[in-house]
Amino acid sequence: MTTRGYFGIGAEGISKPMNFGNLARTAYGFGASFVFTITPGRRVEAPDSDTPKSQEHMPWYNYDNIDAVHLPDGCRLVGIELTDEAISLPSFRHPTSAAYVLGPENGSLSPQLVERCEFIVKIPTRFCLNVATAGAIIMYDRIQSLGRFDERPVRAGGPIHQDAGPNPHLPKHVHGRPVYSGGKRESGKKGRDRLTTVGSRYKPKKG
Ligand SMILES: C[S@@+](CC[C@H](N)C(=O)[O-])C[C@H]1O[C@@H](n2cnc3c(N)ncnc32)[C@H](O)[C@@H]1O
Repeated sequence: MTTRGYFGIGAEGISKPMNFGNLARTAYGFGASFVFTITPGRRVEAPDSDTPKSQEHMPWYNYDNIDAVHLPDGCRLVGIELTDEAISLPSFRHPTSAAYVLGPENGSLSPQLVERCEFIVKIPTRFCLNVATAGAIIMYDRIQSLGRFDERPVRAGGPIHQDAGPNPHLPKHVHGRPVYSGGKRESGKKGRDRLTTVGSRYKPKKG
């Protein structure tokens, strides 16, 4: 999975640590650089739902309030909330450097946090989803739209690799030596295996 840029993801007012553990686990799986909580209802330490123990592999920041939130320079804050005015996720261009913030299980993003966000994005659903599920969809959309993947074919099924774009899972293509159909033979090889030296193909006859 290769993408340019980086992202972090967090939630405001989390009251169920298991939800945050689930979010952090998924974030780690999708290659997040950090996760965070803001004003958590309950302090989130090491929930059982975070089975890969992501805290040992990426930073977890706990901000006691919105003023304490400190993001890296140039990192753009994207609020995730189901509101009428929000940008619909399938039409949203993810910033290269982004921090996504979700709301609490039993509420919505606070007006102060909405004010700090550069964008508010919604997932087009009939009703609010579980916070960790919403986070997973946002992260999947990010890597799907910014990652290097083969294009989907027109017909059902996977891509035909020869015709598709670069696939990050395949070994890097290495160019061989130039092969010419005529010219000086090398190492006595014949036919298709015959390699020639550049510029040796055509020599005009003298006289
Ligand atoms: C369980 S929802 C909050 C409950 C919701 N405010 C309600 O009472 O119906 C928790 C958080 O998940 C995120 N969320 C859930 N579904 C969403 C959607 N369809 N679009 C954007 N964000 C969503 C938001 O960040 C929201 O604050």
